[in-house]
Amino acid sequence: MSISKTIIVSNRLPIKITLNGSQIGYQNSEGGLATGLGSIYREGDNIWIGWPGAIINDESIQEAITEDLATKSLSPVFLTEEEINKYYEGFSNETLWPLFHYFPSYANYNDEQWCTYKTVNQKFADAVLRVLKTDDQIWVHDYQLMLVPQMIRDKAKNVKIGFFLHIPFPSFEVFRLLPWRKELLNGVVGADLIGFHTFDDSIYFINSCQRILGLPSNSNQLFINDKPIIVDAFPISIDFEKFNTLANDVLQKPHEENIIKRKGKAKLMLSVDRLDYSKGLINRLKAFEKLLEQHPQYIKKVVFVQLVVPSRDTVKQYSELKEQVDKLVSNINSKYSTLDWVPIHYFYRSFSIDLLAALYKTADIALVTPMRDGMNLVSKEFVACKSDETGVLILSEMAGASRELNDAIVINPNDSNKFVKALVQALEMPVDEQRHRMRSMRDIVSRFNIHHWVKLFMNRLEEVKVLQRKLS
Ligand code: UDP
Ligand code: G6P
Repeated sequence: MSISKTIIVSNRLPIKITLNGSQIGYQNSEGGLATGLGSIYREGDNIWIGWPGAIINDESIQEAITEDLATKSLSPVFLTEEEINKYYEGFSNETLWPLFHYFPSYANYNDEQWCTYKTVNQKFADAVLRVLKTDDQIWVHDYQLMLVPQMIRDKAKNVKIGFFLHIPFPSFEVFRLLPWRKELLNGVVGADLIGFHTFDDSIYFINSCQRILGLPSNSNQLFINDKPIIVDAFPISIDFEKFNTLANDVLQKPHEENIIKRKGKAKLMLSVDRLDYSKGLINRLKAFEKLLEQHPQYIKKVVFVQLVVPSRDTVKQYSELKEQVDKLVSNINSKYSTLDWVPIHYFYRSFSIDLLAALYKTADIALVTPMRDGMNLVSKEFVACKSDETGVLILSEMAGASRELNDAIVINPNDSNKFVKALVQALEMPVDEQRHRMRSMRDIVSRFNIHHWVKLFMNRLEEVKVLQRKLS
């Protein structure tokens, strides 16, 4: 008897390869998709297909990696330098990423990159088809693989396919700017169930399908030759228990004591982001500077720890952003530092989950202020680590997480005056109020956790198939 499995497909595997000569090393990948699904893919015969994060041309090394990863339920798709350049850095991160995050002026429309995007999507679809059995279900993830659902459907008519977009889906007026808008939508609607983080994203998607593909719709159903497919919101979450337990682990104490000793009596503000223009780093640094300028009573009373994880640094806008952040941090620090106090502690590297949890736990305030973000898991991780229920979250209304975490101080990151007011409000918030807000946010994150998310999506996929059979 064959046992059905779930095939997860995403551009990046949750593990990335590091090569030192012919020495192969493995590291966890950063980013919401990898950390979000990282806890659940090992169940049963499930398998995760994706790129292992490094360019490896040597076939014997590829074979060794494939064997190693098979023991971890992972299956690598190797990409050439040209594919990385045109499909990943190019079409995915210079076209789709900026457009979908409402930075249309950053988007680059290049035919060659689009062609490579199609070729690489076919490569991923073929990798799925090689391991696919009749009763399996396939779960395709994110903007790098929008053509994959239909590519699989072409070869496996009745198989269950889910697609989830981890970034925002833009409104029609922005999406229509894309020369290949029709092809992309046709790729996605090969899936039976299409998920987004927010209700707005799902409405924008349905709207584009109606206007660009002329598809009939009824509420959250779209009809492809009379076959219904479902479009809905499934806000992703985190492994609450993992972070909650980690934050209470005695082995974490030395990290925490170290941070507490270093911050002294000052309040600790924390931000954790990949280096990305969508994360609002510049606006945040400027707001912090304005706080020191307009409210000098906070000089020496607050320390801002900004962790920036290196990301996509071969893409022009990312390397330029790095220079801007470096310069701004250095200007603020040189203006305000004293012999015994530095306002911004800025780190440009990855941190271990242990250290992250210790920082979340000891921070008084988390600043999560993206210009646009599909969900933002950092905000939920911070909440999960606050087992004593103190601490304040300042959250941008442009992050998907703001729809659930209503008890944060929610701001528009473009409104610099309100931003500074929010900083003051957070610094002055009485402990009772902190507890009241944090308790309700922890309740939401613990109930609607990553396991709940996966179950909800998978059950729904099953229901769509039942619906389709009924109506066929
Ligand atoms: N993260 C990490 N290493 C670090 C800093 C952050 O693995 O040094 C993780 C963090 O814990 C979170 C993810 O990266 O799970 C970032 O996800 P988020 O949804 O906030 O943003 P994304 O990077 O997906 O845009
Ligand atoms: C976001 C995207 C993911 C991506 C991650 C890290 O979370 O939704 O698809 O994996 O950022 O970006 P990277 O380009 O390093 O994979």
